[in-house]
Amino acid sequence: MSKICLGLEGTAHTIGVGIISDDGLILANKFKMYHPAEGGIHPREAANHHAQHIVPLIEEAMISANISYRDLDLISFSQGPGLGPCLRTIATSARALALTLNLPIIGVNHCVAHIEIGRLTGTKDPILLYVSGGNTQVIAFVKGKYRVFGETLDIGIGNMLDKFGRFVGLRFPAGGAIEELALKKPQNFIELPYSVKGMDISFSGVLTASQNLYKKGKSLENLCYSIQEVTFAMLTEVTERAMAHTEKAEVLLGGGVACNKRLQNMIKQMAVERDAKFFVPEKGLCIDNGVMIAWLGLIMHNADIEMSVEDTVVRQRFRTDEVDASWR
Ligand code: ATP
Ligand code: FE2
Repeated sequence: MSKICLGLEGTAHTIGVGIISDDGLILANKFKMYHPAEGGIHPREAANHHAQHIVPLIEEAMISANISYRDLDLISFSQGPGLGPCLRTIATSARALALTLNLPIIGVNHCVAHIEIGRLTGTKDPILLYVSGGNTQVIAFVKGKYRVFGETLDIGIGNMLDKFGRFVGLRFPAGGAIEELALKKPQNFIELPYSVKGMDISFSGVLTASQNLYKKGKSLENLCYSIQEVTFAMLTEVTERAMAHTEKAEVLLGGGVACNKRLQNMIKQMAVERDAKFFVPEKGLCIDNGVMIAWLGLIMHNADIEMSVEDTVVRQRFRTDEVDASWR
């Protein structure tokens, strides 16, 4: 009999409920995103949003999975990294659910969940380029852990896109709108600072330069196009170097920015040139979602990892390389 897990995600602006069985069958993937009325994300308000929506979202997921609460074997939730108030809201819900249903509970690392759900696409041992709002990391599994080979020295790539978007009046999150604007012809390239330092990258220079050029009247479409070309080239460069260094022949994209077709194409082309394989999960599994949390929960549970309620305190700065990936 396969086991079924319900997973709760809520590290930042998205609250997600996912249900999956340990043979990889996705039974439900429901989410709701908090959109701040203006400005950036306010942690307390995002947490209130999650608290307001979690119960109806769980019910919606259960109906869509067409199972009863008795069919569940495990509750998992994202323990970190993320915003304190959001994490605590989700953890409290997970504990309440687990205690009420008398089920085991597991807190998982959000970043590792992005990787493990990607491995459902068929990749075995990839270099992962994890690109979201808050995170930008090149990760590989080496000697028992997911290790970070390169990362942003300042803001995450998605954060940079969203900040530029807000500056020019686009709705949050702006990544999708920037991708569309970038496609408008003619795609005239505007020089922007290319910033790769060893294996690390930085985006604040591109952001400031783009904002200044926009103020000076440069075309928004051309700026969107150029921002993508420059930052995605930076990401491709460090990803390729990590592949060469670790001699891995697969590359996997993850995180919300992985939805971007231009980024996918650049990484795919690099992979083809190296005789490597390229993988990207479907959109609903790239952005923050509960399925990846449920999936990692099951993997850990099946590897005999157990947690008591006391172990489920949230970890705002939970790093990818702190996780002992004993299941691999
Ligand atoms: P994390 O907690 O892992 O940092 P997150 O809270 O940022 O994740 P995600 O859903 O993984 O959440 O990613 C959201 C980001 O993805 C936003 O910054 C958004 O602008 C960006 N994004 C979404 N779609 C696209 C796209 N098509 N092109 C570029 N960026 C995109
Ligand atoms: Fe994420």
